[in-house]
Amino acid sequence: MAPLTRARSGKDGVPNALMAAYYAQRASAGLIISEATGISREGLGWPNAPGLWNDDQVEGWKLVTDAVHRSKGRIVAQLWHMGRLVHPDLGGGQPVSASCTTAPDFAHTYEGKKPYVAARAASFADIQRIIGITPRPREMRSPLASTASRFTVPTVTLSINSFATAPTSALTSTAAQSTIACAS
Ligand SMILES: Cc1cc2nc3c(=O)[nH]c(=O)nc-3n(C[C@H](O)[C@H](O)[C@H](O)COP(=O)(O)O)c2cc1C
Repeated sequence: MAPLTRARSGKDGVPNALMAAYYAQRASAGLIISEATGISREGLGWPNAPGLWNDDQVEGWKLVTDAVHRSKGRIVAQLWHMGRLVHPDLGGGQPVSASCTTAPDFAHTYEGKKPYVAARAASFADIQRIIGITPRPREMRSPLASTASRFTVPTVTLSINSFATAPTSALTSTAAQSTIACAS
């Protein structure tokens, strides 16, 4: 089953019984790819979408995976970092992207749509940090592995740069990156 954002988690991004029922009803699909799931507050820009960066969210996902497994289904998580498409009003601060760019059009927030804000360019340390917090399947555990390594099923399928409407990468090197100023 293709991943389908449903926005049923609430502001805390914790999967719940409604989500468990939804996924269990679809267990016969074969392999379910979950709705896109934030790897961090910084990377989650869709109101009420689920996350996978803290213990409550892990426990919430267990509700879902247990329900799917009881119905003989299989499910993997689709991981999400939305880059410049995350509005600061969702609590993650200034968005980080490949470059200092501002996405066209409007972001979804809890108060409705708002213009996107300028992203800052990811530094090399940002890239290491974001990769470091990205959950990995159990067989790929590393010292950097985080919440999903305690998940009950293999979790990683895809990382996506959510529905970007234009290329964001204008950089060729970390040296060049440090000299590019963000447009406001
Ligand atoms: C309401 C809705 C939510 C979606 N959410 C996601 C998502 O979370 N992650 C993703 O990769 N694609 C998402 N998609 C894209 C679908 O997975 C799918 O690729 C798209 O609907 C095209 O499918 P089709 O080729 O079978 O028509 C979403 C699509 C819709 C309509």
